[in-house]
Amino acid sequence: MLKINVYYGNICEYNYCKNCNFLMNEIKCNFDNLKDLFGYKEAFPEVLKAVKKIEDASGEGCEYLGWLDLPTRYDNDEFRNIIKISDEIKEEADILLVIGIGGSYLGARCAIESQNGVFQSSKDNVKVYFLGINLSADYIEEILNIIKGKSVYVNVISKSGTTLEPAIAFRIMRDILSKKYPPSELKRRIIVTTDKTKGILKEISNKEGYRTFIVPDDVGGRYSVLTPVGLFPIAVAGIDINEMMLGAKKGKEIFSRDNNDCYRYASARVALYHSGYEIEVFTNYNPRFTQFSEWLKQLFGESEGKNGKGLFPAAMTFTTDLHSLGQYVQDGKKILFKTELDFEKKSKSIKVPCLGQNSYDKLNYLSGKFIDDLNEIAQKGVYLAHKKGGVPQITVKIPKNNPYYLGMLFYFFEKACALSAYAIGVNPFDQLGVEEYKKQIKILLEKI
Ligand code: PA5
Repeated sequence: MLKINVYYGNICEYNYCKNCNFLMNEIKCNFDNLKDLFGYKEAFPEVLKAVKKIEDASGEGCEYLGWLDLPTRYDNDEFRNIIKISDEIKEEADILLVIGIGGSYLGARCAIESQNGVFQSSKDNVKVYFLGINLSADYIEEILNIIKGKSVYVNVISKSGTTLEPAIAFRIMRDILSKKYPPSELKRRIIVTTDKTKGILKEISNKEGYRTFIVPDDVGGRYSVLTPVGLFPIAVAGIDINEMMLGAKKGKEIFSRDNNDCYRYASARVALYHSGYEIEVFTNYNPRFTQFSEWLKQLFGESEGKNGKGLFPAAMTFTTDLHSLGQYVQDGKKILFKTELDFEKKSKSIKVPCLGQNSYDKLNYLSGKFIDDLNEIAQKGVYLAHKKGGVPQITVKIPKNNPYYLGMLFYFFEKACALSAYAIGVNPFDQLGVEEYKKQIKILLEKI
């Protein structure tokens, strides 16, 4: 049985009706339906050609295909070391500061928020904060206030070692922590994740004796969540990375089968793209997944957006954004389609209180109902409204929000992204646009 199912809302009716739920795992989406709907016949064959490119490592950027095999070809010694150092930090620290930007933080952040919550409110876990993700003094100051009086470790992550934002943040933190901890203690509290042999961070680590993790040569930033870049902070946050890797391993198996849902999803995106749709909106109904959408935005934006091509990845968390962008989705220019993350198991913890005779809000008919049940009904209503508004809707159904399915989900989207990028004719693994603005900022800064 597939663990992740993709439904094409406008093709096979995505059924929320309780009586039809039993059909969910049986709905099969096939390319013929897509052909009829979007009039673009080539999507599935193009995705299959892309599969071949990945399998034969014959496409552009094929030197960055390392992420494909990470779940089965992981460096065991490094994995053990991640667990060992994360256990030490869990024992000793209140806070882990992760310093990194783009692919060097988004995976860890979305994994941690999805599992530990937006506020990471569990008392037992080390709190993970992210620094070096902007050049805002306000933001840095807030973090500095948060860490006052706390036991702090730092994980600085940069593949190149030269990215401006994390480099500045690392300077600031080293300066502050060197006043707080003696040199031998400071050395223990800084962990560096960077290139195996080269770069400034590697040089400093060698000089100062910092412990290091390696960003593999054949894995680019946005595909690196299942390397120490993501796994180490995730482990420090108390999330079971073994389970994550097991889920990713299962994903590797499932999403290599013939005609699997990852290929169908990639085909749907490609068909929609060639049919004139310009924007893919990633939606969810749980703020714990807002950051997951940020990860998706980077993955798809940097992989596809080149040579004047690519879908623009946007994100909305519902029901919040229904009250701002919902109008446009429903009734605006017909350039966007939705890809919705939907988790089957909903929490049964919080109910609408009963106010008895004193009801002032005329909502007594909802008394005793679970909040997540209301959320599900809202999701159904929005689905129906958007269907009426002619918005193509893809739903990625995930059985449960846990580390296992999270690992699988990462793999699902990484592969779908690489396949769709190849299918529309771009190299999924370079990012010349990113390099360009990094270069322009540097030129200007060198003049001040
Ligand atoms: O995906 C990418 O390659 C980029 O977004 C990088 O992750 C980001 O620019 C940070 O680069 P680095 O890890 O070299 O500091």
